[in-house]
Amino acid sequence: MTSEKLFITFEGIDGSGKSTQAKLLADALSQLGHDVVLTREPGGSTGAEQIRALLLEGDPERWSAETEILLFTAARRDHMETVILPALEKGQIVICDRFADSTRMYQGLSRGNLRGMVDALTKLTIQQEPDLTLLIDMDPNTGHSRAKGRETKEERFENFGVPLQEKMRAGFLKLAEEFSDRIKLIDGNQDIRSVQAIVYNLVMGVLK
Ligand code: TMP
Repeated sequence: MTSEKLFITFEGIDGSGKSTQAKLLADALSQLGHDVVLTREPGGSTGAEQIRALLLEGDPERWSAETEILLFTAARRDHMETVILPALEKGQIVICDRFADSTRMYQGLSRGNLRGMVDALTKLTIQQEPDLTLLIDMDPNTGHSRAKGRETKEERFENFGVPLQEKMRAGFLKLAEEFSDRIKLIDGNQDIRSVQAIVYNLVMGVLK
């Protein structure tokens, strides 16, 4: 096993294909002999998966954006303490499906401007930012119908409708400019294999 401490995140709107790409990347890196941990947010640890159910199921109006920031951050802190930091300390490559950029967007932008609160809490309780973030850009209508088509219980954010996805897409594109050193924008409106090849080349560039 090759030891390469590296923290990679995938971001994008719902139905952008990032979970599929995260899995394909994890498989490809493992085949090359890298020691990889594939995880996700909200969740990724026992405690955080319990918080996930509170956040993703039920009435869209169940929590205010402020309460959501606290819950997502609590889940992230547990995930950091129990999964991400121990893996990075062992020299593993951590691939995480969503991270703090999702909170910057979904809670920081969706219902008023709460970006300052997200950034302050992230700085105080999380500290760590990814080394590389792969942002899969997707048409909001396509993304929304794909996500709704999955028919799971975890539809709280999808149930805010296409307008939320449009807002999130615009926000993510701006975020990629703001953090242009670590966020790489990828056009997700192409076939899985083409996106996979772009992802792979970007990661190889960082690994070298
Ligand atoms: P997923 O569908 O990628 O598993 O993500 C679940 C939902 O959680 C998705 O609609 C985005 C939302 N979310 C937030 O609102 N804030 C966050 O910080 C994270 C990690 C996810």
